[in-house]
Amino acid sequence: DKGGHRHFMAKEIAEQPSVLSDTLNAYLTDSGIALPDPGIDFAALDRLTITACGTAYLAGFTAKYWFEQIARLPVEVDVASEFRYREPPITPNTAALFISQSGETADTLAALRYCKGKASALYSVVNVPESSIARESDLALPIHAGVEIGVASTKAFTCQLTVLLLLALKAAEDRGHLPPAARDEILTHLRALPGVFNTALGRDEVIENVAQELAEARDILFLGRGLMYPLAHEGALKLKEISYIHAEAYASGELKHGPIALIDQHVPVVVLAPRDRLFDKTVSNMQEVMARGGRVVLITDAAGAESAGAEAWRVIQMPEVSDLLAPILYALPAQLLAYHTAVAKGTDVDQPRNLAKSVTVE
Ligand code: F6R
Repeated sequence: DKGGHRHFMAKEIAEQPSVLSDTLNAYLTDSGIALPDPGIDFAALDRLTITACGTAYLAGFTAKYWFEQIARLPVEVDVASEFRYREPPITPNTAALFISQSGETADTLAALRYCKGKASALYSVVNVPESSIARESDLALPIHAGVEIGVASTKAFTCQLTVLLLLALKAAEDRGHLPPAARDEILTHLRALPGVFNTALGRDEVIENVAQELAEARDILFLGRGLMYPLAHEGALKLKEISYIHAEAYASGELKHGPIALIDQHVPVVVLAPRDRLFDKTVSNMQEVMARGGRVVLITDAAGAESAGAEAWRVIQMPEVSDLLAPILYALPAQLLAYHTAVAKGTDVDQPRNLAKSVTVE
């Protein structure tokens, strides 16, 4: 049942305010963040490895920035198919975290089995609590996204991010890097996030118009810096898997080390840049693109649009959100841009060619 939507993907994108509330309600109590037993003692850890595939990997890649910035916990993040065959040494006091919507991805499961008896504990963030990955981990943290049918992961991604941010906050607390007042402030912002998503969903039409124009492109680049860098990868992945347009993501600062050679008037460049402490740096990369005739789609907030919007080809304006939460909110325009571009091209949005919802072969 598509609930009145044209595709499951559209329904699942629109469900995000409600499933994000469910996720938050599952982990937040009046006194703060509560994990199911046996919990996690982050103070005892020297390192965390995060392993996953595809979009789940990109949730983990985002979480690396959170764990390292807020909790001062070193994180190694890798795609499961590389991690498992590299035979990485697992040093003492290293916990291993696996992220999987289905909980059945063959490479992720094999990576988990590789870590058994080596890591100090095995944790998973899953959407299916009865799945193999959940059953074989010491602690499985469900994301409460509900059934996801569209092959392109959307609501599972933002729910994964939410659980991962809560884990990073818990880690920061355990490790003495997050005073209660700072924690409470972030939790207040998090509780407001479903409402902010609702506001952002109301701006769908702007994105649909931009997507009509992107549908003509053969190649599209995504740029981001800091927390927006992993998300640039998610935007490119989503776009290529359902619209079949070639898309690549780069760290904004890497542009001049090679990819800028690709820029001309035929290559739209999507720049993800809320007005945070890195904004000015990203704007100067954006100007490098424009100086070479590149057409920039700037996804930013009111302050960002005010300061740099006039230079961009198109601007998609998001509601204000605190810096830490921006990757969760900015996933939405990335999803909608991919969705509307695919619809404009007439591809099979829910069942893109060559792809399966759950990859249980290696
Ligand atoms: C992309 C997508 C895939 C999955 C990947 C991992 O939209 O859906 O990249 O994220 O196949 O699947 P899970 O999370 O089930 O392990």
